[in-house]
Amino acid sequence: MRQTDFLVIGSGIAGLTYALKVAQDFPDKKILVMTKAAADETNTKYAQGGVAVVNDLENDSFEKHIGDTLIAGDGLCNPQVVEIVIKEGPDRVRELIEWGAQFDKEKDGDYKLGKEGGHSEFRIIHHKDITGFEMERALLEAVSRQKNIEIIKHCFVVDIITQHHLGYLVTKATPDIECYGVYVLNLLTSRIEKIVTKTTLLATGGNGQVYRTTTNPSIATGDGVAMVYRAKGRIENMEFIQFHPTALYEAGLRGQAFLITEAVRGDGGILRNKEGEAFMQRYDERKDLAPRDIVARAIDSEMKRTGTEHVWLDCRHFTKEKFTEHFPNIYQKCLSIGIDITISMIPVAPAAHYSCGGIKVDQWGRSSIKNLYACGECSSTGLHGANRLASNSLLEAMVFAHRCYIDIKEKIEDIENVKDLPDWNATGTSEPKEMILITQSLKELQQVMSDYVGIVRNDIRLQRAMKRLDLLWEETEKLYESSSVSPQLLELRNMITTGYLIVKGAAFRKESRGLHYNTDYPGKSELVQNIVL
Ligand code: FAD
Ligand code: SIN
Repeated sequence: MRQTDFLVIGSGIAGLTYALKVAQDFPDKKILVMTKAAADETNTKYAQGGVAVVNDLENDSFEKHIGDTLIAGDGLCNPQVVEIVIKEGPDRVRELIEWGAQFDKEKDGDYKLGKEGGHSEFRIIHHKDITGFEMERALLEAVSRQKNIEIIKHCFVVDIITQHHLGYLVTKATPDIECYGVYVLNLLTSRIEKIVTKTTLLATGGNGQVYRTTTNPSIATGDGVAMVYRAKGRIENMEFIQFHPTALYEAGLRGQAFLITEAVRGDGGILRNKEGEAFMQRYDERKDLAPRDIVARAIDSEMKRTGTEHVWLDCRHFTKEKFTEHFPNIYQKCLSIGIDITISMIPVAPAAHYSCGGIKVDQWGRSSIKNLYACGECSSTGLHGANRLASNSLLEAMVFAHRCYIDIKEKIEDIENVKDLPDWNATGTSEPKEMILITQSLKELQQVMSDYVGIVRNDIRLQRAMKRLDLLWEETEKLYESSSVSPQLLELRNMITTGYLIVKGAAFRKESRGLHYNTDYPGKSELVQNIVL
């Protein structure tokens, strides 16, 4: 058993930003950061386009960035939160730069600014096309200089400890559910350990792996959301799954697909269909730089109309020098599979990319469970509404990491560690006999979610999905009750719960808004509501 004041689950931008702030303010306290994989294996590491932030007040303004965010969010953003994130963003970016992150500059020393879908101005600071890699590097280096942060790798957080584990009946209606700590599967020893903590920050990232193809790495399995749901906390707007319009299409690929950043379209890349037509002009006056929900739906529609598995991204009008100056990694990746972007078009298709909903939090990152905070992609702050504006998520993670820190700092002295929490109970379980049961169920889940709960939905598809998820859930629970836990089983269980929450949110929303498009309800409802589960 370990005891701490500050527990952080997740080593992406949200977790590390928060950990650094707390560690600097409380030099005598130890901050524990847990991650189920290597420290840098996060969605953060794969971010490409950059960080949307207003830093050129001559040509841009907070009002314009706020306006773009609200338009993309399609009526469901919380305007107060939008203002907070956009106005506090520049300070947080400055701190990240002080910690060592580098962004590309013009010869005169100003930051180079990129543009992506839904942005009315060039405002995206970036590091080539590997912005996330650079940010994660800088954060991990800053953490390594901070002696009171301990990163514990390969530790899989299984569940949040609440009154339920002390023998009380806890339901959604229970007031003041409290988080006392977590159970963790140590992947090196295969033992479940107990961490007792005063405060916990969940920064567990997204859930793209619930779908057959995704831009997300294998860690993105919705664990934080599933844990909070099991603990009877509140989850919001899960139906808004953002599909990135342009993941690199590779025939037969399952799992993580390589992203072709939207910034390529910002610099002039053009989407074309099988017939070579630049089709986006038929769908939206903003053409290739319309918000993501519109572009992804347009591509989906073109693929269905022409019977193809991808469309094309045309960059043949770029010179090699111009393209590689901003996108050297994409250039190399394409070349590695035989595509010289100056000669051939890039095959692209939409892939699951970002979860706009998540653990419901207030303006200080507080979840509905006491002393449990959430930040980054696993949270639902109200910034993104029904569709996230490109490059707003790294910004949101930094701003909310800071807000969680401010709130926790005020409270920490008044919180006691709860003693006598029970150990994990593994009686009656044994090693699972067949891993195939787990891997097959995962494939089924991904198939169901991709076929029935993708870019375009309808009621029959959602009903079918729910039935199939019910069965998968029942089978997996049986396995879970009789098996000693493994990361594969834990992730499957979390992904089924996440899939269930996506389907349930989608079934409740009787309208089409932002990323949720249901052909049975093509218009918007007058009742503008968040769906809280
Ligand atoms: P992550 O960075 O995903 O970190 C999650 C952490 O939680 C990991 O350390 C993981 O191991 C840990 N974890 C999860 N479950 C458990 C568990 N059960 N136990 C222990 N640890 C656990 N956004 C932008 O704003 N701009 C961009 O240009 C951009 N480009 C993107 C490109 C790609 C390819 C992808 C996938 C995303 C992109 N995004 C971008 C989105 C953005 O990168 C993510 O939303 C953001 O990085 C999420 O950060 P996070 O800290 O919330 O989670
Ligand atoms: C991209 O670079 O296209 C991804 C940006 C984002 O997801 O915000």
